[in-house]
Amino acid sequence: MVKRTERKIKIAGTGMYVPDKVLTNADLQKIVDTTDEWIVTRTGIRERRIAAKEQATSDLALLAARRALKSAHLEPADIDLIMVANNTPDTPFPSTACWVQAGLKAGQIPAFDVVGGCTGFIYGLIVAEGLILSGTARRILLIGAETLSRITNWEDRNTCVLFGDGAGAVLLEESKDDSGLLSHFWQADGNLGPLLIQPAGGSRLPACHDTVAKRQHFLHMKGNEVFKHAVKRMGEAAQEALKRAGIKKEDINWFIPHQANIRIIEAAGERLNVPREKVYVNVNRYGNVSVACIPIALDEMRQAGQLKKGDIIVLDAFGAGFTWGAVVYRW
Ligand code: ACO
Repeated sequence: MVKRTERKIKIAGTGMYVPDKVLTNADLQKIVDTTDEWIVTRTGIRERRIAAKEQATSDLALLAARRALKSAHLEPADIDLIMVANNTPDTPFPSTACWVQAGLKAGQIPAFDVVGGCTGFIYGLIVAEGLILSGTARRILLIGAETLSRITNWEDRNTCVLFGDGAGAVLLEESKDDSGLLSHFWQADGNLGPLLIQPAGGSRLPACHDTVAKRQHFLHMKGNEVFKHAVKRMGEAAQEALKRAGIKKEDINWFIPHQANIRIIEAAGERLNVPREKVYVNVNRYGNVSVACIPIALDEMRQAGQLKKGDIIVLDAFGAGFTWGAVVYRW
């Protein structure tokens, strides 16, 4: 059991950016052997956004970051650390966070990436909490950004219908009132890594003609296995985080899960007994944007006035690693 302090971090601003280009299920029908009906019933996805050729992950991240700064009425000079959760960096190195730091002209503040599969944004929140409450950083810009279209095999109907591009960002600082992050739960099981993997491009299989010919630089996934584990682990993570916060399931105002598939979202919601209208869903519009799903949802909900002071929110994710984690947050 994690011993928790009374001190908390809070979200002081949110922002998001999705590319203009919309790829619909009808468009995909022209590329692979699929149908709108199959995609909608199996995944809930109707369309997704695709980054322009010249846009890398940091470009999306930067636009979301600027909007988050604006919503918090802050300037780049007001932040003292940047973290970018992502699985599709601009370059293996430098980190995407360093590209963002340069783009923002944020000065020589520390900047690094968080690589935690689709759970990366939740992992980032938990790392940020530690850094802020220990006094290492005062104000952190945490971004979740992906260009998954770049690692998607557009010839594989099993995977290419699922993913999209986008970015969401939050400004984090110490809370001065009741609002903020109440508890967290995070875990990983590296034994299950091969079930969701980009096999080539790292030191195990460096890029070469052979890896390209075998299409090993694309995302590979055992969909059924991922599905099973995601439902189980997201349910466990949320329940454990609620227990640690001393909050009952019936007190949840909003459940904001990772948006991989409507059936995973609904099954995770059912495990928490959260009524359908309290489960936030945007997978229909963006597909699975990995680490960007949750911060995009937060920004959409804040902008729509859906988050009220005092609301209890559960953020919950699962991804490659496998990794999973949840936080309970009082708005
Ligand atoms: N269009 C038409 N048919 C398809 C398509 C498609 N796009 N994709 C697969 N099929 C076919 C399969 O070939 C299979 O046909 P067969 O029975 O003749 O072999 C049939 O549909 C059923 O395939 P299943 O894989 O059993 O379908 P399932 O109901 O499991 O749905 C899916 C597949 C949507 C991938 C599901 O398993 C899933 O969502 N898994 C989780 C994936 C995920 O969320 N991954 C990322 C999570 S972590 C992260 O975000 C990085």
